[in-house]
Amino acid sequence: MKTSEEQVKKANKEFYDIVGSSYEKLDGRRTEPLYAYVEEQLKEVSTQGDSESILDLGCGNGFVSQVAAHLFKQRYAIDISYLILRGIEDPQLKKIAADSDFIPIQDNQIDVVGAFAFLHHCHSFERVCGEVYRILKAGGIFYSDHDMDISFYSRFKIMMKIYRKVHNAKKRYLESFETISENLYDCSEFHQNGIQSDLICSLLKKIGFSEVSISFHWFGLSSFSDRMFGKKKYPRGWAPLTRIVALK
Ligand SMILES: C[S@@+](CC[C@H](N)C(=O)[O-])C[C@H]1O[C@@H](n2cnc3c(N)ncnc32)[C@H](O)[C@@H]1O
Repeated sequence: MKTSEEQVKKANKEFYDIVGSSYEKLDGRRTEPLYAYVEEQLKEVSTQGDSESILDLGCGNGFVSQVAAHLFKQRYAIDISYLILRGIEDPQLKKIAADSDFIPIQDNQIDVVGAFAFLHHCHSFERVCGEVYRILKAGGIFYSDHDMDISFYSRFKIMMKIYRKVHNAKKRYLESFETISENLYDCSEFHQNGIQSDLICSLLKKIGFSEVSISFHWFGLSSFSDRMFGKKKYPRGWAPLTRIVALK
């Protein structure tokens, strides 16, 4: 049976309401080198725009918002889970519980929208990309990172299955919370086998973004892969993580 858009949104809300402030700890990847990496990325995109305001889309525990604290004057964070937002202690951050398909911000307001490990949680991308475009100022930038591309998964399917047996994130969540079922996890991680990033880039161009760039890398998965692959860019299908930068 097909999973509907509503089911995916409901699963995300329910899952992250349960996980709450434990998310970053359980995920285990929000390390110092990853903070430094995201800071580099935000500095790069903030010098292209005028760096007044940033929206952290699908913010979780507020990872991007924290990194952005000294780079942007105004910071907004949106998440579909009210309970995960409630756990963020940051008085300067404007927290908004909302669905990314219906962002309660007026047109042309934001300089940078950052989305980290977020896109693979979306059922489809038309509406969210349209919303990002609408709220960005002219010259504003959409920066998305750390979602796996489907071409990598397809190429290394067997290795990915072995990797997931060893680093079993699903098992960690199931063991930590008895209210989390396998189905809930799978439904919230809707594109856990990869996003079609080439189609997302075509969509961004169609919506009106003037420049869209995409690159693939390994940085931020583990200290081992950081040492092995560094921050180098790889051809599509040869590195798991997708970085998209789009200029309005
Ligand atoms: C994997 S977590 C990433 C959190 C954070 N960006 C980070 O990197 O630590 C994905 C987040 O997206 C949120 N999310 C999923 N679907 C959403 C939607 N439709 N609208 C807003 N937030 C959503 C989830 O609630 C969750 O907090």
